[in-house]
Parts: sequence; C-alpha cells; structure tokens
Amino acid sequence: MKKNLSVCLCGMLWSVAGASAAETVYVTADRMIDPAAGRVIENPALIITDGVITQAGAAQNLPAPEGARPVALDGKTLLPGLIDMHVHLTSDATKGGGYSGFAFQKERAVVWAVINAERTLMAGFTTVRDIGSERYEMLAVRDAVNEGEIPGPRIYVAGPPIGIVGGHCSDNTYLPPEYEATGEGVATGPWEMRAKVRQNIKYGVDFIKTCSTGGVFSKGTLLGAPQGTVEELRAIVDEAHMRGLKVASHAHGNIGIKNAITAGVDTIEHASYLDDEAIRMAKREGVYFSMDIYNTEYTLAEGEKNGVLQESIDKERQVGGVQRESFTKAVKAGAKVVFGTDAAIFPHGDNAKQFSRMVRFGMNEMQAIQAATSLAAEALDKEGSLGCVSAECSADLIAVTGDPLTDISVLETVDFVMREGVVYKEERAD
Ligand code: ARG
Repeated sequence: MKKNLSVCLCGMLWSVAGASAAETVYVTADRMIDPAAGRVIENPALIITDGVITQAGAAQNLPAPEGARPVALDGKTLLPGLIDMHVHLTSDATKGGGYSGFAFQKERAVVWAVINAERTLMAGFTTVRDIGSERYEMLAVRDAVNEGEIPGPRIYVAGPPIGIVGGHCSDNTYLPPEYEATGEGVATGPWEMRAKVRQNIKYGVDFIKTCSTGGVFSKGTLLGAPQGTVEELRAIVDEAHMRGLKVASHAHGNIGIKNAITAGVDTIEHASYLDDEAIRMAKREGVYFSMDIYNTEYTLAEGEKNGVLQESIDKERQVGGVQRESFTKAVKAGAKVVFGTDAAIFPHGDNAKQFSRMVRFGMNEMQAIQAATSLAAEALDKEGSLGCVSAECSADLIAVTGDPLTDISVLETVDFVMREGVVYKEERAD
C-alpha cells in the first residue's frame, strides 16, 4: 500500500486538537521503546488524559477505557518525543551565511523561527533548547507555541548569549569598527555579567547561554582560545543558579571547557577538544556534553554555497574530526552525552540525521535514543515528565516505521507526532 504523508492534514489535526487534548486517548502500536527503563514493550498501550500519560503497559493488560479515542499505530514503533538540546530557530542554513546575513531585515529571524519551529516538531522533536538568539524574539515564539497559536516544539529559550567583547557569543565580529556593532549580551567583568543574567531573567528566559571559547562561525575567534575568565564565568553561573536557571557554555577548546566546568556550568556545548581530565571533571561535576557531530558534514558540503566565510570553513575542517574522536572518548568513558545538533547550521527538520553519526562514533542505538529523550530530560531537570513513556509523563510521542534499535536512521522519517496529547502529524496508509 502506498503511504500518504498527511502534511496537508497537519494544520487541521492540530487546530482541532486543542479541544482533543482534554479527552482520553488510547494509543496502541507494535512496539514501544521506553528509554528511561532501557527496554522495549511489545504490543504496548498508553492511556492519555489531558495531555498526560496516565497508564502505560502491554495492551493485553491495559484495555481501552470506555469512550477513549483510539489511535492505532499499527506496524509502528512508539517512542517519547525527541529532545534537541541545541538549536537556533531564528537562523536558517541557506539564508544569511557569512556577510549575506546583513541583507535581511532583523524581523525575518522571527518569520524563520515560526517556520523552523513547525519543521522541527514535524521531524519528531517535541522539545528543544533554543540556545541563543540576537534579541528577545524567541520568547514571543515560545509563548505563541505554548498558547497554541502556532505549531512547534516546547521551547526552552536562552535569549541573548552572554559573553565578552569580540567573543563568540557577542556575534558582532563581522563589521568594521565604525559600525560599533555589539550584541545584546556583551559584558566585561563579573558584575556586568551578572547584570546581563539579571536582564535576561527579567525578560523571561528559561536558561543562560555563555561562551568560554571562540567558535567556528564567529569571525576572528580561535577555537582553542578561552573566552571569559573563570571569575566571569563563575559570576554568570552563580547569578543564574541563585535564580534557579541552568547555564550552558559553548566551548570547543580544552582550557575553555575546563574553565566552564570549574565555574559550575551545567552543559558544555560542542565539547570538541576533550582530554581524559576534562571528561573526568565533567563526570565528577555531573556536567553534560552536548556534541553536535552531524553538522560538520553539512558545512563542508554546502557552506561555501551558503555564503559561509572561508575562515569558518577552515575552522570546521580543523574541528570536525577531532570532535568526533572526543565524542567516542566521552561515550567510552561513560560521560553523559546528550543529543544537541546546532540545527541552523544545517536545515531545521534534519536534526535526526545526527543519530546515525552518534551510533557510528560509539553509542549503541538505545544510548543514542536515551541521549535525545531520558538523558536530555534529566539535563533539563524534567526527568519523569519529558523523554519518557510511563505514567505522569507528558504525552509527547512519536512513531516510526521499523525498529530504531536495529536501524537508527528510521528516526529520520517520523510518521506520527503528538505533543501534550495533541496530534500534529499522522501519516496514514491510503
Ligand atoms: N556554533 C558552533 C560554532 O560556531 C558550531 C560548530 C559546528 N562545528 C562542529 N564541528 N560542531 O563554533
């Protein structure tokens, strides 16, 4: 039978679904992966009420409650909705690379974010961390998703990243001095850093992003060179933690990774140059590595065409392989490695392409799925509510054809997406 991808149906599904979140839904499938327990349930059933899973188990022990709406995902594998810990919904890989970005009015970023939020959700990602945007525009996108105005994943927003003058986070290194271009989160010294954290919290961000080394896509920064002193990084972490927010630090180089861990950050983004000591420190401090090991392929293949600076392509060539070696080392050493892609460098919606690379470079299939579900939820302090398929978990579910535990790449084609009990995508057989 030919499959009919119901993209055209999606709007309809989710717009009527606002009402359906309150009803009881009975979901069945061929098998279900429960990443929190690290096991598979054959012929599972889930009962969902008000967007939350109330019961989960084998269908034979869990009959459909009277009046429940059945969702029968025959032939499919059910999993918790996926979590990407590192995306930038306001940026688009094919628009705005290098200097071409200056051709766009700043409000276009919001338009792209709305489009990219939907693409991300339809690809099976029901939760993302939006880990840095130029202003506070992502707060509006997050709120619009939460209030059901637009389809999208649950979005944790960092807002303007906080970092040093001319640093990777300040995002202002492309223009000559007479433009006096500077980013919203640029600060000098611990007290200014604290003030920036306070400002971001005032406007409603969900977590704090900083940078403790240079980066690939900032002009004139070095991957290996630390950015910000430990004192400055500590001020950011102290201020954020005091207010109950977590801190993510961009760090490629080894010293910057260690500085950030010493300062107490919660996640290290990229984590490209890891040695045994950095891995040991992260394990000791309970720090998660979020390693974007797919995007290197996209940048090296498409970057030039997209206007990416030669300098960035050169830096990518320098770091891509090393980062993959670090990934293998970190996984082998039992470090906590979560799923984070830096979607924006490649087109949003292709996030799941990273799974096969995570398996190729050292994880087994279950570990790769856990990295994007139960482990990511743990890093978000949402254990038992996100990235899981047991009672009390949010009804964030996806279904795929085939078994991701034998072929992880089946996660690249998601047939069914539900977030908080609302169905956004359902591929039906004709
Ligand atoms: N945003 C990061 C940076 O500019 C992307 C790094 C991408 N490359 C990689 N191999 N992970 O540094």
